[in-house]
Amino acid sequence: MKIGILKELTPGESRVAAVPETVEKMVKTDMEVYIESGAGQYAYFSDSDYEKAGAKIAANAQSVFDQAEVIVKVNPPMESEINFIKANTTLIAPIFPVKNSNLVTKLNAKKITTFALDLLPRIARAQSMDILSSMSNLAGYKSIILAATHLGKIFPMMMTAAGTIQPAKIIVIGVGVAGLQAIATAKRLGGVVIAFDTRPPAGEQAKSLGADFVSLETSHEQAQDTGGYAKELSAEFYAEEQNIIRQYIKAADVIITTALIPSKRAPLLITEAMVKEMKPGSVIVDLSTEHGGNCELSETGKIVIKYDITIIGLTNLPSSMPVHASQLYAKNIFNFLIYIAPQLTNKQFDLSDDIVKNCLIMSQGEILRKG
Ligand code: NAI
Repeated sequence: MKIGILKELTPGESRVAAVPETVEKMVKTDMEVYIESGAGQYAYFSDSDYEKAGAKIAANAQSVFDQAEVIVKVNPPMESEINFIKANTTLIAPIFPVKNSNLVTKLNAKKITTFALDLLPRIARAQSMDILSSMSNLAGYKSIILAATHLGKIFPMMMTAAGTIQPAKIIVIGVGVAGLQAIATAKRLGGVVIAFDTRPPAGEQAKSLGADFVSLETSHEQAQDTGGYAKELSAEFYAEEQNIIRQYIKAADVIITTALIPSKRAPLLITEAMVKEMKPGSVIVDLSTEHGGNCELSETGKIVIKYDITIIGLTNLPSSMPVHASQLYAKNIFNFLIYIAPQLTNKQFDLSDDIVKNCLIMSQGEILRKG
């Protein structure tokens, strides 16, 4: 099977979908790998590293598209890439089909078999392929590093000859993948952490990392679906939740928000009025701006200061850690490729398998799933 790896065209993107280690593994499993020259340069993987691992270096994207039967990507393909892609190629990439319905139509018109990795179910079997979890984990870490950089204070308690410094107070709202890593990172830096989530199981996980957990008194059935994801709750519930959070954030130095409900707008949990009541110099990192944001004042892709509060709404944080982000992403891709290779070779997809059923959004000119 011929696998193609491209230099990502999305502005600001530094990651690459294969690293020399995964290329070596692909070659050992009889895959041929074609990689565009310079594809790994922003993650510090050179053409010669890839060549040593057994890849063939293609001078440009066109030649990757000409050779490859399967294209793997970090971002959804751009217009120019869709023009290059050969009919009947298989594409493995995040697609976000609801947001990118035009892209879906164009790929389907070219009969591209497309696996949307953003739709991978969060089940145990699929964990090693789960690109969103890998990237959320890194984003959770970076959210704390960013907060620490922008906060005019230190995180740990420090007893010095000049007096004792109290530890920073950090609030983490949403204890999923990113939230858990934010808690772990804040604790490592010596902060005191309070966490909120609507799903009761999140409480035990937050506490196991040393955070205090504020229960929002929801039941399992009310708060999470059978896949373990958060369910949307009523407007009254969110108003009450804001009231509870409001009591805590007045004393906070840092707030990290990661609350997400799949396929819905992120719940609005911090209003402008609440920001006004925070201590000057505090920092909010809103990881959910691409889903509408958990804070009313955050701006997608920007760092803004409002009412003396720094509000960070940066996107694509994993790209700021391209080495490890590429390593994790590439391993997820490799694990997916190995899993799906027999079905790709036989050109027969097992739609009773949850992994295939969720991700395979189109095949042979037929759209199988819209979102
Ligand atoms: P996740 O689904 O694992 O976690 C979300 C958590 O929010 C769940 O535990 C859920 O129960 C909780 N939640 C939902 N509604 C809530 C509410 N009303 N109050 C409190 N908690 C609530 O999601 P994951 O993977 O951790 O991602 C979190 C966010 O980070 C997403 O919006 C994702 O898109 C974003 N993200 C941002 C990146 C960036 O560079 N800015 C990079 C990676 C992820």
